[in-house]
Amino acid sequence: MSTVSTAYDVAAVRADFPALRAGAAHFDGPGGSQVPRQVAHAVAATLGSPIANRGQVTEAERNADAVVVAARAAVADLVAGDPGGVVFGRSMTQLTYDLSRTLAAGWGRGDEVVVTRLDHDANVRPWVQAAQARGATVRWADLDPDTGELTPDALAAVLSDRTRLVALTGASNLIGTRPDVAALTALAHEAGALTHVDGVHLTAHAPVDVAALGADLYACSPYKFLGPHLGCLVAAPSLLETLHPDKLLPSTDAVPERFELGTLPYELLAGTTAAVDYLAGLGGDDGDRRARLVAGLTAVEEHEDRLRLRIEDALAELPGVTLWSRAAHRTPTLLLTFADRAAADVTRELAARGVNAPSGSFYAIEVSRRLGLGDTGGLRVGLAPYTDDADVDRLLDGLRAAVGRA
Ligand SMILES: Cc1ncc(COP(=O)(O)O)c(C=O)c1O
Repeated sequence: MSTVSTAYDVAAVRADFPALRAGAAHFDGPGGSQVPRQVAHAVAATLGSPIANRGQVTEAERNADAVVVAARAAVADLVAGDPGGVVFGRSMTQLTYDLSRTLAAGWGRGDEVVVTRLDHDANVRPWVQAAQARGATVRWADLDPDTGELTPDALAAVLSDRTRLVALTGASNLIGTRPDVAALTALAHEAGALTHVDGVHLTAHAPVDVAALGADLYACSPYKFLGPHLGCLVAAPSLLETLHPDKLLPSTDAVPERFELGTLPYELLAGTTAAVDYLAGLGGDDGDRRARLVAGLTAVEEHEDRLRLRIEDALAELPGVTLWSRAAHRTPTLLLTFADRAAADVTRELAARGVNAPSGSFYAIEVSRRLGLGDTGGLRVGLAPYTDDADVDRLLDGLRAAVGRA
């Protein structure tokens, strides 16, 4: 029987998400969350307002400028960063490729770059390819396939005084593992390396403080935290000042604009601000936006953890289901495989019941291979701020039917 959380008004949250009226139970949030109407309205309102290139002469120019300034402030509040170090781009993947080439301009033979087996490929391949192009060496911090953990020992084993950069994840989008990022970045810094933390999955599920994480460079994607489709990179402006990406001759050399190629998608930036404001709104009315964001994301984390434990308890009763999400500290992201069934078949059966839980490796291909799941991966159940007990009931009914226990 379902229990209802009193601390968090999930019914009120759900009422804000027009997409939920279509009726599906969405466990596909790690691939991209649904969007509250406030975000959709902000996007539409920006497109319906006078808008031009950024400037201060016309109303249209001032609108564009205000949208950019507001979005940088919003993302800075979300991750406790500096608005002057918030870079926007089409996606985290695009930003990471661009950044990897820029950083790699200073690498050569003898330099080392560390990537991990826990990461999404967007925080692996750009670094591997950039290092190879410069003759630098790539070293791999291993994932423990039994526990799903990426330990400080695993990182220490591949660090040296030649390490220039450590690219690691804040949380795995495949199995949810939240490594001890502060401990890992402390080791990287002791070795004299920069850290690039992939916060795409983490940012949707917990309050983030980039300084506390020790992230010199932090990447996230608003479409994973209730916003529109684009990516962000956050760093100290002083660090960005030292980097010189390729850019057009007439475009500004100012930071952070130096890193933003071409005209920014103003409507999506307005949607990003609205998403951050929405998350802050989940934290009540007290304090500034940062304080409300911490409260809101803490409430989201508690809500999602309660539902995750409900699912895990039920899974333990289901024969032939393997749960690969095992780390001590993790997001509500469960990877499942089935003894007698292909995960993709179970995904199709769930979809026929209006339960969206896709299967694959979700580009965390190194994780999938290290777990022995090849390139196939498994079925991923991801929770979001709008997930409720009725969604969980539908998921569990569908899984019971899939393993013949209905
Ligand atoms: C952990 C993680 N990192 C990176 C990415 C890539 O993000 P983007 O689609 O913004 O390039 C994803 C997308 O699924 C992800 O889950």
